[in-house]
Amino acid sequence: MKSQSPPLRSSYIIGIISIVVILGSVESRGSWEKVEYSAINCRKHSAVLTDFGGIGDGKTSNTKAFQSAITHLGQYASNGGAQLIVPPGKWLTGSFNLTSHFTLFLHKDAVIVGSQDESEWPELPVLPSYGKGRDAPNGRLSSLIFGTNLTDAVITGNNGTIDGQGSHWWDKFRNDTLNVTRPYLIEIMYSDQIQISDLTLLNSPSWFVHPIYSSNIIIQKLTIVAPVDSPNTDGINPDSSTNVKIEDCYIVSGDDCIAVKSGWDQYGIKFGMPTQHLIIRRLTCVSPDSAMIALGSEMSGGIQDVRAENNCAINTQSAVRIKTAVGRGGYVKDIFVKGMDLTTMKYVFWMTGSYGSHPDPGFDPKALPKINGINYRDVVADNVTYSARLDGISGDPFTGICISDVNIKLTEKPKKLQWNCTDVEGFTSNVTPKACDLLPEKEQKFDCPYPEDKLPIESVQLKTCYTA
Ligand SMILES: *[C@@H]1O[C@H](CO)[C@@H](O)[C@H](O)[C@H]1NC(C)=O
Ligand SMILES: *[C@@H]1O[C@H](CO)[C@@H](O)[C@H](O)[C@H]1NC(C)=O
Ligand SMILES: *[C@@H]1O[C@H](CO)[C@@H](O)[C@H](O)[C@H]1NC(C)=O
Ligand SMILES: *[C@@H]1O[C@H](CO)[C@@H](O)[C@H](O)[C@H]1NC(C)=O
Ligand SMILES: *[C@@H]1O[C@H](CO)[C@@H](O)[C@H](O)[C@H]1NC(C)=O
Ligand SMILES: *[C@@H]1O[C@H](CO)[C@@H](O)[C@H](O)[C@H]1NC(C)=O
Ligand SMILES: *[C@@H]1O[C@H](CO)[C@@H](O)[C@H](O)[C@H]1NC(C)=O
Repeated sequence: MKSQSPPLRSSYIIGIISIVVILGSVESRGSWEKVEYSAINCRKHSAVLTDFGGIGDGKTSNTKAFQSAITHLGQYASNGGAQLIVPPGKWLTGSFNLTSHFTLFLHKDAVIVGSQDESEWPELPVLPSYGKGRDAPNGRLSSLIFGTNLTDAVITGNNGTIDGQGSHWWDKFRNDTLNVTRPYLIEIMYSDQIQISDLTLLNSPSWFVHPIYSSNIIIQKLTIVAPVDSPNTDGINPDSSTNVKIEDCYIVSGDDCIAVKSGWDQYGIKFGMPTQHLIIRRLTCVSPDSAMIALGSEMSGGIQDVRAENNCAINTQSAVRIKTAVGRGGYVKDIFVKGMDLTTMKYVFWMTGSYGSHPDPGFDPKALPKINGINYRDVVADNVTYSARLDGISGDPFTGICISDVNIKLTEKPKKLQWNCTDVEGFTSNVTPKACDLLPEKEQKFDCPYPEDKLPIESVQLKTCYTA
């Protein structure tokens, strides 16, 4: 026993020394080592971008580092999943792909920066429900962060930043030198169980967040900012997707803060995939030339069961706007809006049946959209130019419009015709200023309906996870 005591003691001392060294190194690497976050699933395996050669100097391309890290971590998909930590730094990158049972976590001082080298943005086929690229008929570029055919993927952070450096793309759009459709910032296709949360997203080349052909999506606590004159910088575009929750987002942009979509004319009709069971709540929007929430204009696969509650817009063109056209087909139905707080608006209510904008001349002029069951209640608005402009389609009126408990205060120089209505049918209750004759006030006061049940996505509980 005695003879063993010196080695025991020295290993004990070495043990203490190594604990001190490990603690010291943890401290010197900063507090990002262990950060708590909330996610649909936590991961068994963890790696840091620098383990794969990432260099956060804002100049070196990290496209290969991201892609090799994610490909490597993809092998843990059936073994507890993996998370990739993006540490403090400026991480320049082109487009890269996500994998399943995977979390991309951005430290609060991490900035992922979109490359301006176009060879770093691979071309993808056009979306089948659109048939054409939105900017150019050729292909489209893969989004900065792209995922397809995924199950259980999370993009989150401690309010870390993803900056698309969009001005390069906006210039090309404006000077008409694009021959391919601009990339989005984040696009997830054909996927299930997706979370995008707790991030600051800046200056997307075009739309910011685009879930399409997907289900069970949670989008929350995003700060999304682009110049209010930047082209097509929609905030969040739920597209042909089911069971989606968007909450607690702050969006300032050059296009619609949220644009709900489901495909374009004959291509969208043929694909036939609606957006449905969507809830949007506690959004704050600033968008002087666009809507807080647009339904359309691409709605050919249908939009139904959308619930919007307690949303706020400031200096925004309109609140919840329906945009459609002859040739779209499809439907917008069972839309429920409750609680809007609006300040400095051109329109409170706006529906447009003549939006135009077709993919090609091959659209079917007999494909009329069906707009029915559109409910708005509990709205306060201040500094408004027009209360409503509701343009249905001749021979295809927008029906089942219900508006209750609305108090609109007008600008200093309001327009004379406050409610301009054509080809619409419905009722109002307790609305000031008084609505148009096509939306008469019922004798007995009523509240427009709002569903009492919850969507399945509302009962998904997030788990408490750690970065280390
Ligand atoms: C990313 O996914 C797209 C679509 O599946 C594919 O075309 C592309 O090659 C993938 N990129 C990489 C680097 O694997
Ligand atoms: C992704 O899913 C879609 C729809 O199920 C399918 O058509 C496509 O082939 C899948 N792609 C890949 C790369 O698995
Ligand atoms: C995230 O960062 C943005 C930009 O710096 C800031 O405006 C916002 O308040 C932050 N959000 C949170 C939740 O910390
Ligand atoms: C258009 O804008 C792009 C991006 O800023 C620029 O590289 C290009 O030179 C411009 N082309 C013309 C014709 O102005
Ligand atoms: C688009 O333009 C780039 C140069 O700006 C050129 O390299 C590329 O071949 C063009 N692509 C198509 C599909 O015309
Ligand atoms: C009211 O709206 C007008 C635009 O109609 C705008 O110029 C003005 O700044 C707004 N006033 C306030 C107090 O926000
Ligand atoms: C009312 O709306 C119609 C379109 O339906 C438009 O042509 C007309 O100019 C509007 N009238 C006023 C006074 O704004």
